[in-house]
Amino acid sequence: MQFKSLSGLLAAAAVTSACTLPTSTISNTFAGPIRVQVQNASYPAVNNLYMNLLAAGGGDQHLFVGPVGTPTYDLDLTAGSIGHGVIHAVIGGEDSTIDDTTKMFMTERGDPRALFQPVWACNPETDAVQINLNFVGKQNAPPGGWICVRPTFDGAHEFRYYPPNNSKFDPNRFCIKVQLVLVPQGTTTVSTVSTTSTTSTTSSSSSSTSTTLTTSTTSSSSSSTTSTTSTSSSSSSSTTSSSSSSSSTSSTSTTSSTSSSSSSSTSSTGTPTPLPYTDMTANGFRFIGCAPEERRATDGPGRVLPSALYAEDTMTNEKCMAFCATHGYAYAGTEYRRECWCGNGPIAPGRVPGTTLASLAGCNFSCMGNTAQICGGDSWLSLYQKCPTGGPCVNNVFT
Ligand SMILES: *[C@@H]1O[C@H](CO)[C@@H](O)[C@H](O)[C@H]1NC(C)=O
Ligand SMILES: *[C@@H]1O[C@H](CO)[C@@H](O)[C@H](O)[C@H]1NC(C)=O
Ligand SMILES: *[C@@H]1O[C@H](CO)[C@@H](O)[C@H](O)[C@H]1NC(C)=O
Repeated sequence: MQFKSLSGLLAAAAVTSACTLPTSTISNTFAGPIRVQVQNASYPAVNNLYMNLLAAGGGDQHLFVGPVGTPTYDLDLTAGSIGHGVIHAVIGGEDSTIDDTTKMFMTERGDPRALFQPVWACNPETDAVQINLNFVGKQNAPPGGWICVRPTFDGAHEFRYYPPNNSKFDPNRFCIKVQLVLVPQGTTTVSTVSTTSTTSTTSSSSSSTSTTLTTSTTSSSSSSTTSTTSTSSSSSSSTTSSSSSSSSTSSTSTTSSTSSSSSSSTSSTGTPTPLPYTDMTANGFRFIGCAPEERRATDGPGRVLPSALYAEDTMTNEKCMAFCATHGYAYAGTEYRRECWCGNGPIAPGRVPGTTLASLAGCNFSCMGNTAQICGGDSWLSLYQKCPTGGPCVNNVFT
């Protein structure tokens, strides 16, 4: 949970938006390399940071602000879409049911794009003229919503789409609404490109904030606004698995059906030691192991089970298995006391958990809904696999 800092509030309150805006209109195809900046003066941790790219599988790039990814100066804006060469910013994947947000990342594939309209604006802190990238909406979905950034690994924030009319939020992973700003390469403010304007220094026009907005040229987005949210969300979830599992080849996590161990016992010293997982075989899931999330792995970003997430303060392994099974997923995993992740696999080779006792060490957080159970750890996932109907259902053996 993040709180507005006093300085941030003061900075925001000091703004009177007095700069004189150019009267020209700005095309939503912007020639020349740009950077994208994030602004929210109430949140100094992210305010004025620039969008970084981090290579993911299949040519995708994941988007961050903060100490993750590569500062990228040669982005472009084409028909309202932020791009980098053949890839462009899309909305889809890693849906969080707790706050109904969805990941924004860059890919070459045809996922619904994030669409923006550049407009002149006054910098809320410095009052300099700048170009805001106002969020128009998700392509082929009802217009509206906004872009927000939420904490992720290594102190960075990741980009998310907050859909229109949503009111949910995740108190433990608050997604900060941000204004995106287009910054031409080589400039720190937009004053150098605003040559067409009549920038007088008299600050009389305090009400001139949105005078020259031309929302007409917003491209294909708003033309097809009639599609239902259900179809758009289902398409986005189907793109999820393709997006984040693109680097995986085949699963090697099937060591099943041989022995018949239980969820406890076995110890090198001979004394039975409860193993840190819950025997869910009666519920149709077998324990695979403790799998590393992106921060613990070396194969790049992305979740072990990227397709669905729900989190709540009464999380148990039973609830998580039931959730993933109800939604038709082949794998379920609990993490960080209160998170439940689902996916269809295959588990990427770099994320397949070990079968030594030591490999279970990272999964040492008790479940918030049942402290007698383990629900993963800090970037470690307690990973379970759905057993075939009528088939064997045996937990992995740890030695
Ligand atoms: C959001 O709510 C407004 C007001 O109730 C409504 O007019 C609009 O259709 C809603 N939009 C979506 C996408 O549900
Ligand atoms: C800053 O973030 C807060 C919380 O998400 C939001 O209410 C506010 O509108 C944001 N401010 C701007 C300028 O986006
Ligand atoms: C979990 O293990 C880590 C690493 O060994 C340790 O730092 C942490 O304190 C442990 N947490 C709990 C709740 O036992």
